[in-house]
Amino acid sequence: MYPKKPPMGFNTWNTFGENINDEMIRQTADAMVEKGLLAAGYEYLVIDDCWSERKRDAVTDKIVPDKNKFPKGMKAVSDYVHSKGLKFGMYSCAGVRTCADYPGSYDHEFLDAKTFAEYGADFLKYDFCYKPEHAHGPLLYRRISMALQSSGRDILLSACNWGCDDVHDWIRSTGAGMFRSTGDISDNFVSFRDIFLSQVDNLKCSGYGCFNDIDMLTVGMHNRGNVAAAGCSDLEYRTEFALWCMAGAPLMLGCDVCSIDDTTLKLVTNPYLLRINQDAACRQMFTVHSECDNLRNVYARLLSENEIAILMTNLADDDCRLWFPFDELGLPVSAGKGLHLTDAFTGADAGVVKEYHYIPLKAHDCAVYLAKVVEV
Ligand code: GLA
Repeated sequence: MYPKKPPMGFNTWNTFGENINDEMIRQTADAMVEKGLLAAGYEYLVIDDCWSERKRDAVTDKIVPDKNKFPKGMKAVSDYVHSKGLKFGMYSCAGVRTCADYPGSYDHEFLDAKTFAEYGADFLKYDFCYKPEHAHGPLLYRRISMALQSSGRDILLSACNWGCDDVHDWIRSTGAGMFRSTGDISDNFVSFRDIFLSQVDNLKCSGYGCFNDIDMLTVGMHNRGNVAAAGCSDLEYRTEFALWCMAGAPLMLGCDVCSIDDTTLKLVTNPYLLRINQDAACRQMFTVHSECDNLRNVYARLLSENEIAILMTNLADDDCRLWFPFDELGLPVSAGKGLHLTDAFTGADAGVVKEYHYIPLKAHDCAVYLAKVVEV
């Protein structure tokens, strides 16, 4: 399955880690619908690592769901998820074991793809731990892609090799619909900031059919769960979400959606930010202005319908004023044009600005605009 827009959903890893089970998946499915997340576009419910028994079935060689966590089996869980109008995602690994030491799919790719198809999976996250030294990474992703294609079900391949082996050069050719390009996120500002900055120059190979995945969001986690690491303020989470939207990255929620707070819910369903993220043109953002060793930057992204998304970041630790001369966007003063700005966080009309925009930004804050070129 080749996605036309960055995939959106929820993944169990960031909050729940190994503490996953039938009941919490069903509750999550209910919450995704009741809280309007599905309606906003979050359609995949993905079960990450730690869902299976430690050993394959001795007779069939199949991976089997953990009998205590999923006593009714995985098809029952998948059926429930589907009954809510959501899509169902599973997890495996290109190596002999998964990262948390459960059976991996190495040399079992076709059997496992068939098993996932039998479960009714629509998505497979495919990790990279415990890969035999001699095995060629790109070949393992080609193999699982072939296995999924011949499984009889349309299953989106979500590759997860953390940016190894120059993944940007070849991953699109394997048939993956998204690919993790970085190491694991943890719930603090520096983690998401550095992940974002590491991929700014790699977004050119992200787009229609295959999207650069900069990891599941920590937005709204508030230092609870599996990747807790100091947590973030609401202002920082707002910045994280804006960065992911502007990068055109897959939006996989990592917080507990059953207890999601109102501020987070409003943020992750913000129609302006989602419009930027999901824009059909899939053009990559580019840097139009840079200060303070790349920590205070202005990025722009051309959208459909002659709109431009603008992101002004202060990822440094002090408050500042940030300057954005329109000349660097391709709008010289001589053109006699200005930008009509809409604040993407609030939807408020921010007026028509000409020549430059110069705004105060608190430490770790950002501003996001939808802009149209107008006569001035
Ligand atoms: C790796 C991945 C994570 C998560 C864990 C599960 O570290 O990068 O996203 O899937 O494995 O063990």
